[in-house]
Amino acid sequence: MAWTHRHLLGIAELSRDDILHVLDGAERWFDMERGDATHARVLHGRTIVNVFFESSTRTRTSFEVAGKRLGADVVNIALQTSSVTKGETLLDTVRNLEALRADALVLRHAASGAPHFVASATRTSIVNAGDGAHEHPTQALLDAFTMRRSKGRIDGLVVTICGDVLHSRVARSNALLLGALGAEVRLCGPRTLMPRHPEALGPTVKAFEKIEQALDGADVVMMLRIQAERLAGATIASTREYARTFGLNARVLAHAKPDAIVMHPGPINRGVEIDPRVADGEQSVILDQVEAGVAVRMAVLECVITAADAERARA
Ligand code: NCD
Repeated sequence: MAWTHRHLLGIAELSRDDILHVLDGAERWFDMERGDATHARVLHGRTIVNVFFESSTRTRTSFEVAGKRLGADVVNIALQTSSVTKGETLLDTVRNLEALRADALVLRHAASGAPHFVASATRTSIVNAGDGAHEHPTQALLDAFTMRRSKGRIDGLVVTICGDVLHSRVARSNALLLGALGAEVRLCGPRTLMPRHPEALGPTVKAFEKIEQALDGADVVMMLRIQAERLAGATIASTREYARTFGLNARVLAHAKPDAIVMHPGPINRGVEIDPRVADGEQSVILDQVEAGVAVRMAVLECVITAADAERARA
């Protein structure tokens, strides 16, 4: 089935076939990259603008590298240096970028729904690079890519996601995607950092209060950072207490399957949600996730820009 979406706003808007289309497309780019192939030119002459109104290291760089490896020109805009600080609205910023004939805008914003709002008002393709506590679709796609490469499948896997689930767009997008591909999703965290209705994230989602129980028989352990920037008021007693009850160390990890992989979207807070020895240990695929991110974003950029071309050709 062909990909027909001009924008990538969230996993919620994708079908199972859409997800597999991106993962299979990424597989091709991943092998080409590893094979040291010369840069592809499928987006030669195209312009991609990274519009980041929240901090980012991996996601922004990954989109930039992905765009450049496809031959596109990539421009970066950060909140601190944009005219938003002079009072310009997000929509006006986007309309100006559209007037510059950008082909795609990769948008990260603190407000949930910002990319959806912008997408309804522009002809330019919008790719959501994280909107508030809502969705982070390319992160979930690169996580699925990493799981599939490591475990050979997604269907039937037991994936435990632990930490600040309530404020995590990564957890939301992952729960939606993994549910669509048939994995069992277990969510675990302090009561104050858990969603009130976890089952709303999918039929295969279960909530746990103790990390040891959540990890029992898990194939994949995904740890999350406490989203301090989204916390309104105190929600944990102390980071030391948090590390003791919800941190992943070797003792706790032993509850998962012996060949379980350890994931984290980054940035990691060493000694808080994850022990450095586990983060750097044999079961960790944290840097594999980063490598996968480039191939997945190459596939996503190719998909949305090709779909926009097809839509224009039909109009
Ligand atoms: C995540 C994000 O920004 O949502 N990071 C990322 O994109 N790799 C997770 C986080 O900030 O904790």
